[in-house]
Amino acid sequence: MSAEPVTLLAIETSCDETAAAVVAETGDPARPWLLKSNVVASQDAIHREWGGVVPELASRQHLRDICGVVDRALEQASVTWTDLGAVAVTQGPGLVGSLLVGVSFAKSIAWSCGIPLVPVHHLAGHIESLVLQHGELPLPSAVLVVSGGHTSLYFVRERGRYELIGRTRDDAAGEAYDKVARLLGLGYPGGPIIDRLAKDGNDRAYPFPVSRMTHADRNQPKATAPPGLLPPDLERSVDFSFSGLKTAVMRLVKEKTTDGQGRRTRDLGTSDIQDIAASFQRVVVEALLDRTFETARWLGARSLGIAGGVSANTRLRAEAETRGAKAGLPVFVPPLSLSTDNAAMIGAAALRKLQQGATGDYGFNAEASLAL
Ligand code: KG4
Ligand code: ZN
Repeated sequence: MSAEPVTLLAIETSCDETAAAVVAETGDPARPWLLKSNVVASQDAIHREWGGVVPELASRQHLRDICGVVDRALEQASVTWTDLGAVAVTQGPGLVGSLLVGVSFAKSIAWSCGIPLVPVHHLAGHIESLVLQHGELPLPSAVLVVSGGHTSLYFVRERGRYELIGRTRDDAAGEAYDKVARLLGLGYPGGPIIDRLAKDGNDRAYPFPVSRMTHADRNQPKATAPPGLLPPDLERSVDFSFSGLKTAVMRLVKEKTTDGQGRRTRDLGTSDIQDIAASFQRVVVEALLDRTFETARWLGARSLGIAGGVSANTRLRAEAETRGAKAGLPVFVPPLSLSTDNAAMIGAAALRKLQQGATGDYGFNAEASLAL
């Protein structure tokens, strides 16, 4: 790491948000990064019409937005190109056409300014969003990343090293929210809408099954956690599954809206929708937190983090707080502006890499799937 504190421009275009941010080193080991600007152009309005992200539309919109978003991030941070010591960009995972826009743009900026370019894994960004907000977490830490594309539990024993302990075997939690919202005839993205509707629903109205591994999943030869880290029972049960829950909601909706021959007889009423939303959400939150807290306890974690788009969920945040207080385990979640996709978190993860000796790289490409 250079002696001078680095000011860095970060770019994130992995899915349907065009984002740029300026993040700087502070020199304070306890709160190492300072967020100077964080600009996000959301494409929700474009994809809403289709009920989900359309990759081709997403990459075209990134092209339209990226210059303006980067300009605004520099302007809001009151910095110019010559103040930048490095550029960071999300390398993957994500939609390859979307990632390519950010990666090509970042390469050209870094090349023309003659400064290092730091490729960042999107999930490292979500994890490091916690440090951006709260300063360094007490280690070891168990961090759950819950987003539209991922539901993964990491164990962080050393700063900047993330060990995968558990993950979803099918749908991600955010994907389940989006699919259930679609079944209920609600908009996109479904998470915030279900979150809002659930507040007025009865969360015990429907006894949806708590997500469990299917028989086939349980018999898979390999658990996700490194061998020996967890007791065998927990090692297998720590992985998540949400497709059974989605199917249960689908069956219920069909039962309520069609006759024995599958003919549509009625629409769902508002209170039906609120009750289904609340019952679905109760089960998702329970599934996420039961495993995360149990694993954190086993691993002797000194803190627990939850990051990613679904960490914006009201019930997940509130229950995590309550469980944390009961267990004497400090719980960290990002502010809403850093929960869903943003470039500030990519900047934080890049500064971590520079702090640990990374020198930058121009020879990488966008990767749709990428291991952390
Ligand atoms: O992290 P993110 O912005 O993008 C990915 O990396 O996937 O997460 C987006 C996901 C979407 O599935 C969205 O429905 C979900 O986060 N989400 C929520 C809430 N806000 C966003 N899910 C539940 N409750 C919320 N309040
Ligand atoms: Zn994300």
